[in-house]
Amino acid sequence: MTKVALIGYGKMGRMVHSLAEQYHCRISAIIDTASNAYPHQITAESIGDTEVCIDFTHPTAVIDNLTKIAALNRAVVIGTTGWLDRIDEVREIITRHDGALLWGANFSIGMNLFSRIVTAAAEAFDRFDDYDVFGYELHHRHKADSPSGTAIELSRILLEKIQRKTQAQYDRSEKKIQPEELHFASIRAGSIPGTHTVGFDSEADSIELIHRVRSRSCFAAGALQAARWLADRKGIYSFQDMIKEILC
Ligand SMILES: NC(=O)c1ccc[n+]([C@@H]2O[C@H](COP(=O)([O-])OP(=O)(O)OC[C@H]3O[C@@H](n4cnc5c(N)ncnc54)[C@H](OP(=O)(O)O)[C@@H]3O)[C@@H](O)[C@H]2O)c1
Repeated sequence: MTKVALIGYGKMGRMVHSLAEQYHCRISAIIDTASNAYPHQITAESIGDTEVCIDFTHPTAVIDNLTKIAALNRAVVIGTTGWLDRIDEVREIITRHDGALLWGANFSIGMNLFSRIVTAAAEAFDRFDDYDVFGYELHHRHKADSPSGTAIELSRILLEKIQRKTQAQYDRSEKKIQPEELHFASIRAGSIPGTHTVGFDSEADSIELIHRVRSRSCFAAGALQAARWLADRKGIYSFQDMIKEILC
């Protein structure tokens, strides 16, 4: 069992806790500033025999947290988003302490594999002009942004791999779609779980690739797998580095 400390015990921290055993991890400590039931500070005493810390906190807390964790000679998995503009500083801290860090904005193994499948499909369809390409994404009505970050990333892949497409079209349009435009639409309604579809369409047939989130547990499962993978390593890795290595 890998001994894991949860830094941040909000929605994600709790989800990681509930899945820990299933992924051969034991929760060795919980640190959370929102509750008096747990220590608020990362110290040698509060994290005990922890091997890897998993941080799901807040962008403003990440640098301070990982500095303390690296100084205590523990590995750290950062799931918190919104701090990437400080990646150079983070690299310097981890290198100085000869530490171990893995970070990722989307710990869903399924979505990371889906991106690879879309990449391979785009490379293949690039050679066959009969096929047009499109995308659309569906989300519940509480989602704050549109298009989703994942839709933007999938569009980036399609534009990079399919030469006849040069720009993404996400918005309402008053004209016919142009051959060089990639239409990627968004719908927000009800409780629809995050769903991303990429399609290739010809006069003769149509192919659709779909990724549908069933639960936030996919992110927690990815974080636990990352903790196990990182436990006996040094250095700085992205979640994609881990996936690449597992696939090779
Ligand atoms: N990588 C992925 O796949 C993925 C997936 C889902 C979410 N996320 C990201 O993960 C982060 C957390 O999401 P969440 O939904 O779990 O948020 P959340 O429910 O707000 O939980 C965060 C918890 O961390 C606590 N906290 C803040 N600073 C802390 C610190 N320095 N030390 C210890 N605890 C601290 C918060 O307490 P206070 O209330 O006192 O601030 C809160 O209890 C967000 O950045 C989100 O975007 C990433």
